[in-house]
Amino acid sequence: MRRIGIIGSGKVGCSAATFLLTEADEIVLYDIVPKLPFGEALDLQNAAEALGLNVEVKGTNDISLLHGLDIVIVTAGFGRTPGMSRMDLLNRNLPIIEEIAKEYGGGRDRETVFIIVTNPVDVLTYVFWKRSGVERHRVAGLSGILDSSRLKTIMRMSRGIRISGLCSFVLGEHGENMVILRDRMREEYGLSDTDLDMVLSETVKAAAEIISMKGATVHGPGASIARMVEAVLSDKGEVLPASAVLDGEYGIKDVCLGVPVKAGREGFKVVQEKLSENEVNMLKKAAESIITVLEQIGCRK
Ligand code: 2OP
Repeated sequence: MRRIGIIGSGKVGCSAATFLLTEADEIVLYDIVPKLPFGEALDLQNAAEALGLNVEVKGTNDISLLHGLDIVIVTAGFGRTPGMSRMDLLNRNLPIIEEIAKEYGGGRDRETVFIIVTNPVDVLTYVFWKRSGVERHRVAGLSGILDSSRLKTIMRMSRGIRISGLCSFVLGEHGENMVILRDRMREEYGLSDTDLDMVLSETVKAAAEIISMKGATVHGPGASIARMVEAVLSDKGEVLPASAVLDGEYGIKDVCLGVPVKAGREGFKVVQEKLSENEVNMLKKAAESIITVLEQIGCRK
């Protein structure tokens, strides 16, 4: 059985559910808003039946029904409005994630893999891990898959280049301190430093641009969540970028940061890829910015 829970039946949660109709045997949508998850579940069940898919989609306002699942995706919280940074969401989303972490703090979900989407995702993935006590490889934040999709979009649309593999990874913070693998990209695609600066700047701004036009990012996050779920459930050990708890890898400890991880049924295992000194230094700079916030909110010594 492939049983998936989605906490937060907003646009991103339901977009992820849509992409997951082909992957799951059961999807349980939770939200605190009365009726919303039930309506969304019925609507998605109609979609599944229209597509001839054998999946059951349920809705609930009772989070206690989301235990013992294969995967739980946390999208609950506030999204950005035009002009906001992801970090601006911290004060409103922190208590929501702390509440959800408490729900999973009882050790009842040792086999469950958690994917955190709520922003600021690096900080809140760490908070969820710390407060819930789940094993570090069982939790990861949605970051690099989504940011890499933007990098790929930019390279295809502005330079006509299709990029893939490690070259397309975006690591570091899911925010201002994103890290692209400049040395690999320079070598592989012959990009100048000016090109690389521009590509990075456009990748960092990609979400804000969409938000300024349509009010929110939906399908990019939804599909990226589905890719992470598919990588876990297929259990092929696919390496992808995600925000993971580091314990000394890349010389970085006790923080969540976008790094390469190997995905499988056990969750996300941090992979120590060969990065250049400059790339590692950029990761460390990104880690410092997240550590500062974690210390400010009293979640890290
Ligand atoms: C994004 O980049 C919502 O952080 C998410 O679209």
